Amino acid sequence: MPKSTPSSKEPLAPYLPAITKRTLSPVPPPLKWAGGKAALLPQMREHFPAVFGRYHEPFLGGGAVFFYLSPQRGVKAFLSDLNEELINFYIVLRDQVDDLLKEVQALHGTYLRLGEAEREKLYYEWRNADRSPEFKKWSPLRRAVRFYFLNKTAFNGLYRINRQGLFNVPWGGYKRPALYRPQLLRDAAAVLQRFAVFLKATSFEIVLDNAQSGDFVYFDPPYAPVSATASFTTYTSGGFGEAEQRHLASVCRELDRRGVMFLLSNSDLPWVRALYTGFAVFTVQARRNINSKGDKRGPVNEILVRNY
Ligand SMILES: C[S@@+](CC[C@H](N)C(=O)[O-])C[C@H]1O[C@@H](n2cnc3c(N)ncnc32)[C@H](O)[C@@H]1O
Repeated sequence: MPKSTPSSKEPLAPYLPAITKRTLSPVPPPLKWAGGKAALLPQMREHFPAVFGRYHEPFLGGGAVFFYLSPQRGVKAFLSDLNEELINFYIVLRDQVDDLLKEVQALHGTYLRLGEAEREKLYYEWRNADRSPEFKKWSPLRRAVRFYFLNKTAFNGLYRINRQGLFNVPWGGYKRPALYRPQLLRDAAAVLQRFAVFLKATSFEIVLDNAQSGDFVYFDPPYAPVSATASFTTYTSGGFGEAEQRHLASVCRELDRRGVMFLLSNSDLPWVRALYTGFAVFTVQARRNINSKGDKRGPVNEILVRNY
């Protein structure tokens, strides 16, 4: 395996809040995200390389590892995810945070003044906007407001689309959704401005174009399902099946050949372990909270695979 190249160690930006016991992160991620890694960071921390060049996260989602790692290590980040609305949100947050806050504040005020039935109606108006041809003409800012509003008011903050690419999560009915959080959003925007040098809606293979020897890649793909119904993997309309898992493993082997360090999370299944023969595999305990059946929400084993 590669000898790591030293990173350009910049000090933590002075405007960033301190790392707290609760968040373990200088900046809490601004979104709720299925499969989010915030709760697993205490177990993952010891697996991050001590020193690396640039950081890559090609299944970004809520970005818990990026918001934890990049500001602490002062490393530039290459971030991507197949979800266009998600990446549009981060780009708008980075480049238009004042405009975004203004719109979110207004929407938050309106929402909180409404009774339950009207809130539900407003939710479905925003949610179903993607059914109209007009949606294609929406500005990036308006799309980002919609994405953020749905993230905070949809059931469990889930992002799920059907085969036609239409968002189909029901209303969550939360009494006080954490919509207008100016400090949290400004801090997240500051981290993106400072460290996110690449932010693109594209598939994970993009790392092969960007990663250089001594860089570090964290892969958090949709997990291989532990049973036919157990896992939530419908973040995108295409799905992520066995062929994609195999392709991802071949991308990892190519990165290894090039001297790039990678860490990967996945379900603890024999056929998944077999894909990574020759690399170090560790078991971690995670809590699943997106299973609809309450009794299946206990701790489950997951694996971390690494090549360093
Ligand atoms: C388990 S989640 C990542 C969670 C993230 N680590 C966090 O802490 O919130 C998996 C992500 O992979 C994305 N995804 C699915 N298929 C993809 C593909 N082919 N290429 C890139 N991203 C993909 C989904 O949109 C989703 O955001």
